[in-house]
Amino acid sequence: MGLLQEKLAKYNLPQQFMAKGVYPYFREIEGKQGTEVEMGGHKVLMFGSNAYTGLTGDERVIEAGINAMRKYGSGCAGSRFLNGTLDLHVQLEKELATFVGKDEALCFSTGFTVNSGVISCLTDRNDYIICDDRDHASIVDGRRLSFSQQLKYKHNDMADLEKQLQKCNPDSVKLIVVDGVFSMEGDLANLPEIVRLKHKYNATIMVDEAHGLGVFGKQGRGVCDHFGLTDEIDLIMGTFSKSLASIGGFIAADESIINWLRHNARTYIFSASNTPAATAAALEALHIIQNEPERLEALWEATNYALKRFREAGFEIGATESPIIPLYVRDTDKTFMVTKLAFDEGVFINPVIPPACAPQDTLVRVALMATHTKEQIDSAVEKLTKAFKALDIL
Ligand SMILES: Cc1ncc(COP(=O)(O)O)c(C=O)c1O
Repeated sequence: MGLLQEKLAKYNLPQQFMAKGVYPYFREIEGKQGTEVEMGGHKVLMFGSNAYTGLTGDERVIEAGINAMRKYGSGCAGSRFLNGTLDLHVQLEKELATFVGKDEALCFSTGFTVNSGVISCLTDRNDYIICDDRDHASIVDGRRLSFSQQLKYKHNDMADLEKQLQKCNPDSVKLIVVDGVFSMEGDLANLPEIVRLKHKYNATIMVDEAHGLGVFGKQGRGVCDHFGLTDEIDLIMGTFSKSLASIGGFIAADESIINWLRHNARTYIFSASNTPAATAAALEALHIIQNEPERLEALWEATNYALKRFREAGFEIGATESPIIPLYVRDTDKTFMVTKLAFDEGVFINPVIPPACAPQDTLVRVALMATHTKEQIDSAVEKLTKAFKALDIL
């Protein structure tokens, strides 16, 4: 056995949870991802999806993907920089830029590679990248890949952000990067205060709208729009893997920033472009969310109903203000156990343990879609209450 294999053979945490029968990952879904999914020949209520708009199974989105595949083929065989740019990519970029209120946008192959490629290449050695300590892993990796000085502030603690800004050289670039909606906790970044600090310290702001797009703001334009602060935010990032029912991501900003990224972001230049089918599906989903405001209304009706029901049932749900509802467990073993009990009762939820949250904050994450019915929510609350009570968490 080589040294590497010897070292890695000691890693058996997953096997320990498998032996206990509570390993919760890689569960196979045998069909489309709607509010109910087929798993092991059974129907399971899906409360673990990020498809907030409920469009992943929409026939129009599927048809757009099929048609694009027929017209353009299955892949682009190269990066956007060279032979991989389709007219479809350019159209989607234009429409996304307009949608989020910026001059221009660039589409990448995933949301993760937007953050890892963009954040790492904007600033120099003498500059600073400042992140919320609950920012998404892709933001953390983008920060780690940069040569800049790296600072973190306590989650949504604006006094701590100000303290970090005070440490910076006033003449250097100070890039603050935040999740607009925090992906596990469901709370919002305090953008009004971050913008105030931007002006006070001459900083730059990038907001990750992965969970804001299709959910907040006019027609689902995101959290920046929700706060009326689009013009104050320098870079807006989004993914296609949640409300846009596909895979891919984008960055939107003014011309000078996009010109730099177009020619310097390594995950854009040195990685193949998004497939025709994925690009066309995202474009169709973008059209649908603009043309069907009732979808956004339904999402908020379901969200507000679920928030009320979980609160009334006594769950600890933190400061969420979004369709992401964390049910705090605060114990890793019990987090896995309650996920398993819920699954046995026919409810799919996601366990969240470190590094996706702080060790003392383990939780199960419930997420709503526009297509969830009140009956489905009632059923989930009832089954989760039973599971939480069985483990003395509630
Ligand atoms: C806040 C946030 N940013 C970025 C990403 C990465 O997006 P994608 O899954 O589309 O690569 C995610 C996905 O989990 C996310 O939650």
